[in-house]
Amino acid sequence: MACGRKDGKKETGEVPVNDTIASEENKHYRPHFHFTPEKNWMNDPNGMFYYDGYYHLFFQHYPDAAVWGPMHWGHAVSRDLLHWEELPIALYPGEEGYIFSGSAVVDEENTSGFGTGNHPPVVAMYTIHDPEKEKNGQTDVETQGIAYSTDKGMTWTKYDGNPVVGNPGIRDFRDPKIVRDTIHDQWVMVLAAQDRAKFYRSGNLKNWEFLSDFGMDTGAHGGVWECPDFFPMTIEGTGETKWVLIQSLNPGGPNGGSATQYFVGDFNGTSFTLDPGFKTALDKRKAFWIDYGKDNYAGVTWSGIPDSDGRKLFIGWMSNWEYAQQVPTTTWRSAMTVPRELRLIRDGGLFLLASSPVRELESFRNKITEEQDVSLSAPFVYKSENGGGLNSTEILLSLEKTGNSIVEFRLYNTEGDTLSFGLNSVKKEFFTDRTRAGQTDFSEKFAEKASTAPRFTSSGTLDVRIVLDKTSIEVFYDSGTAAMTEIFFLKSPFDHFDIRSTDPETTLKNITIHQLKFN
Ligand code: FRU
Repeated sequence: MACGRKDGKKETGEVPVNDTIASEENKHYRPHFHFTPEKNWMNDPNGMFYYDGYYHLFFQHYPDAAVWGPMHWGHAVSRDLLHWEELPIALYPGEEGYIFSGSAVVDEENTSGFGTGNHPPVVAMYTIHDPEKEKNGQTDVETQGIAYSTDKGMTWTKYDGNPVVGNPGIRDFRDPKIVRDTIHDQWVMVLAAQDRAKFYRSGNLKNWEFLSDFGMDTGAHGGVWECPDFFPMTIEGTGETKWVLIQSLNPGGPNGGSATQYFVGDFNGTSFTLDPGFKTALDKRKAFWIDYGKDNYAGVTWSGIPDSDGRKLFIGWMSNWEYAQQVPTTTWRSAMTVPRELRLIRDGGLFLLASSPVRELESFRNKITEEQDVSLSAPFVYKSENGGGLNSTEILLSLEKTGNSIVEFRLYNTEGDTLSFGLNSVKKEFFTDRTRAGQTDFSEKFAEKASTAPRFTSSGTLDVRIVLDKTSIEVFYDSGTAAMTEIFFLKSPFDHFDIRSTDPETTLKNITIHQLKFN
């Protein structure tokens, strides 16, 4: 009988160095419920679709090192958006080049003709990035290809007619996102092309016709536009539909590096134009961001969500190109954000794209404490009695009479690590400050200064939802109209949470702290 351990380790008691590092990194940094690759490098989420009870998530992946390299599409599936199972790699780079970011759709009516069996084919579209052409300094480095699956997304075949969209002479020409435009009965694809979004249409997902450009003179342009997404949404509480364009940008984010902006407007089947109200607000603010923290990039939405569900579900890469390859995990790198639901809100003259954690998270809550009507004339302090600290926690709270105060929330531990965040009512902005929250010395850009986000209301009432994992904080203010996501690296978890206000009149109307428990 063969002997030896299932995990392949020798039984001499000697543990190889790599395993020691991996287990230390897992212990301190591997999130409890945010998706991470089992090993090595990950960046953008790709090709997300829902079919037959499974949420599929693909991702930019380099399986041979914990830094960026020849890109593959890694693959994971989940039934509840929170427990993920990593599957074999879906797409490998080949002679033609690397497999960059893109999207996937369930082709219900088999418009592509790829379908063979009882269920519809799934068609993925991605950028083929040719490293040889890049080395030679050519511009036509990036073209678009498709691949299809006839087994519900489990295995994939690259189309032999690739590329399906050639390069028109633009160096950065990538990240196709396909949407079924039921309003105009067509497939629409949006592509990032350096300083703009390009729209295309197709009847069969193979032949693409160029429609229009958007954005050359609109929004933020501190870097290259990447990873767009485009979809109709009903304005909350109305029957009115608007189209939303999500557009990642690197660098040039509101707090440096990578970030994702959005635009709200109308689409006539050919071109996208800004809503006049959104345009006025944009002229004033220059850009609206889906998340103002430093660590939510390249996020896009799931396709194929049934109408009976109707949600717009989004996930982003929880890192930033400024330091993604230097963060202190070496056996795997990067996590995704918590999956979020997007809502389009009209608030007076403003259109805001609000986000909140998916409701599936609520079923993992175990209430630890709840309090009401606490005066903040003295700080509110909560100490975790649980040995694991606050590293898998959700905090919901609301405040009244924030007036002109500075409300500061702090998470800290006995080792002196402090993460500070909150509201500065005088400046009408939120802030997140990780400059003293654990290890920051791996990159000068990681914790140069606090990040800030605008507050879109002057209300004296503030609602806050905080999602904490081992290495991340995601804060949703004012019903998610301002979100801030940031990562951090601690040797021991935060075990205290406190709240203080510069105005003694401020009251903590209610607070609920849940431990999030996952098996
Ligand atoms: C965004 C991005 C995409 C590209 C991919 C390559 O983070 O630069 O534009 O397709 O990463 O991995």
